[in-house]
Amino acid sequence: MGMTVERPAILKGLDDVYVKESKLCLVDGIKGRLLYVGYDIRDLAVHSSFEETCYLLWNLRLPLRSDLETARRAIGEERKVPSDVFALLRKLPKTTAPIDALRTGVSALAAYDPELGDQSREANLRKALRVTAKTATLMAAIHRIREGKRPIAPDPSRGHAEDLLRMTTGKEPDPQMARILDVALILHADHSLNASTFGATVAASTLADLYSTVVAGIATLKGPLHGGANEQALKMLLKIGSPANAEVYVSSALAQREKLPGFGHRVYKNYDPRALILRDHAKALAERSGDMTLFDTATAVQEIMLRELAERRIYPNVDFYSGVTYHLMGLPADVFTPIFAVSRVSGWTAHVIEYWQSNRILRPLDYYIGPMEASYVPIDER
Ligand code: ACO
Repeated sequence: MGMTVERPAILKGLDDVYVKESKLCLVDGIKGRLLYVGYDIRDLAVHSSFEETCYLLWNLRLPLRSDLETARRAIGEERKVPSDVFALLRKLPKTTAPIDALRTGVSALAAYDPELGDQSREANLRKALRVTAKTATLMAAIHRIREGKRPIAPDPSRGHAEDLLRMTTGKEPDPQMARILDVALILHADHSLNASTFGATVAASTLADLYSTVVAGIATLKGPLHGGANEQALKMLLKIGSPANAEVYVSSALAQREKLPGFGHRVYKNYDPRALILRDHAKALAERSGDMTLFDTATAVQEIMLRELAERRIYPNVDFYSGVTYHLMGLPADVFTPIFAVSRVSGWTAHVIEYWQSNRILRPLDYYIGPMEASYVPIDER
């Protein structure tokens, strides 16, 4: 191809390119609406649980009570992680970022799954549940291990979010915080063909196993332009320090053409509905803590950004308020992106299982603009 064809249109960033059909998730970027299998995220955030949302994504329908009880119990039981995987995580340098340790841990889990090589839909659904369940335990254990503490065993009788919080902090979870974390997990579960789901789908399209697709998803989520933005957004807000400093900070960042973490989105040209929901929860947590500084700083930054950029359709995205929310729960900034992964693993697996129903290897083109007839010079003659 390359120079032999007329220069094609280069779809940089793959804007507006559709590569598959999906029944999973609609992101209506103009109206600022998000649906999972037709259900509005605002309803799910009030009425659902992470386990029910997983069921919905994997089965394309809401569960009956008995289905949900079975799924909840199965996820609880599958949170157990082989001790060899913890031993492997202990060998990583203490400086390893939790998201890197999580990627390594999920990769290791594959070796312990007896159905790794079974590519039937039923086996993949079972693996999806297992890897989703275990990712939470891994995330919590990674945090404990780097603090020199022992991982806490999962408690299958608890909800996924509540148990994640308990295994991470080592304390009996506060019910309000557990529910807010549950909502955050619901909100992050899927988002159509975002960068990490696309990364997972590229891996899936080669018929790699389900765990490999999740590893590709985590690797892609990590970047500060995607799932890494929540940590960066919090760091920015802590650096700004108070609402009074927001104007100077934002103006100077925009003057230097910086992109503020937690703002902007490829698809949303309106307020990200997930950010609106998390904002309310962040406010409730701030009020309860008796210190509104961080929340008020976020509000001040948001107002200045909207004043400056709403005309260009730049709004807060989910990462702007998730960082604030998790910080107010007492969680350290470098586990924010791993928490995102703990939730999104449900969406990655749902998408790749759907993609396999009508698989085709994803293989785009690049347009070659390098030399055509370079003659090889032996190394001693260069
Ligand atoms: N702050 C200031 N200006 C911004 C921001 C921002 N956060 N985001 C976009 N813009 C401006 C750009 O400078 C650009 O202006 P220009 O046309 O004058 O050059 C215009 O808006 C379009 O932005 P692009 O970066 O071209 O948009 P793209 O769709 O390629 O990128 C992205 C989207 C990566 C999310 C971008 O908005 C960004 O970098 N945001 C900050 C990081 C972030 O919050 N990422 C999380 C996204 S949500 C998620 O992944 C869960």
